[in-house]
Amino acid sequence: YRLLKHNTFGIDVSCKRFLEYASVDEAMELTASLTEEDDPLLVIGEGSNLLLKGDYPGTVIHSAVHGIEVQPTTDGYWLLRCGSGELFDDVVAYAVAHGYYGMENLSLIPGEVGASAVQNIGAYGVEAKDFIVEVEAVEIVTGRIVKFTNTECEYGYRQSKFKHDWKERFLMTHVTYRLSSTFNPKLSYGNISSKLAEKHIKNPTAEELRNVIIEIRQEKLPDPKIIGNAGSFFMNPIVDEAKYKELSVVYPQMPFYRTSENAYKIPAGWMIEQCGWKGKTLGKAGVYEKQALVLVNLGGATGEEIIALYHAVQHDIKARFGIAINPEVNIR
Ligand code: EPU
Repeated sequence: YRLLKHNTFGIDVSCKRFLEYASVDEAMELTASLTEEDDPLLVIGEGSNLLLKGDYPGTVIHSAVHGIEVQPTTDGYWLLRCGSGELFDDVVAYAVAHGYYGMENLSLIPGEVGASAVQNIGAYGVEAKDFIVEVEAVEIVTGRIVKFTNTECEYGYRQSKFKHDWKERFLMTHVTYRLSSTFNPKLSYGNISSKLAEKHIKNPTAEELRNVIIEIRQEKLPDPKIIGNAGSFFMNPIVDEAKYKELSVVYPQMPFYRTSENAYKIPAGWMIEQCGWKGKTLGKAGVYEKQALVLVNLGGATGEEIIALYHAVQHDIKARFGIAINPEVNIR
């Protein structure tokens, strides 16, 4: 089964078997039908955070669970129970259109609802975990229906238990997000405010904020329909205060976000650019010219070519800054 249409990096490889489920019942039936022949399993969403090294030796599973159910809470919120196979941005668009607020800054993030709960996607100061109240899934080994609270998922920056202890253990079926009936825009991150000012918008509506976020993303991030990519290839590393101070003496212009008392997030894109990699290529793999955190497939690249570039970039960052940067993308 050809996987070209199931990974936004545009890597042309195949897998032994490809299975989909469109309901909780189908997910349960699917788990019951799996045999050793299907190992190793790979559960994917839109394939927008995935790098395939080569032909996948096992079975790939994808959710086709659709639908959005809305329910008010007694304290002024809305619960949106979404099928794991819905596109996340369709949920954001739906929420904005109906006056369910909070997700505006997550506009245009690629990927599906199920993956939002695995990856804790985030942008412009907002993360999926800020809204997730419940994750429903089917346990692959037992076929049991399971439900998790936000706390049980142990969310962190681009992290959750589903990426570690629970890796490849569940088929997501639904994610419930809690949104607000009052609009509290978050405008402090990056150039949101300056973009709004450019347009002479003082008090943006949710729709206007969504549109500005879409514009900012489109200016910086390559459209995977045109240039294969999986968004940010690396996570932004977090260093302690001592390391931050050491670097800020040498690089007074270095951007950073203080994430807690003794933790500073340093933008990997900035470090990659400092190393001269921005816009550079290695074979058919490249560092995107407008956002150095994004690696791109210049056309017909293999997974190995992307990996060779990632190793070269990682090596140079380590040599120059003494910081290890690690992929955010799921490499399989
Ligand atoms: N920067 C550079 N050169 C570059 C890229 C960035 O100097 O080539 C600097 C920028 O000037 C800025 C800082 O680095 O001072 C941060 O850049 P940006 O705001 O573009 O965000 P990022 O840290 O590179 C993260 C997320 C993105 C998300 C943006 C906006 C990660 C791994 N990535 O990128 O998420 O859209 O913030 O919130 O945390 C993704 O995960 O796929 C993704 C696109």
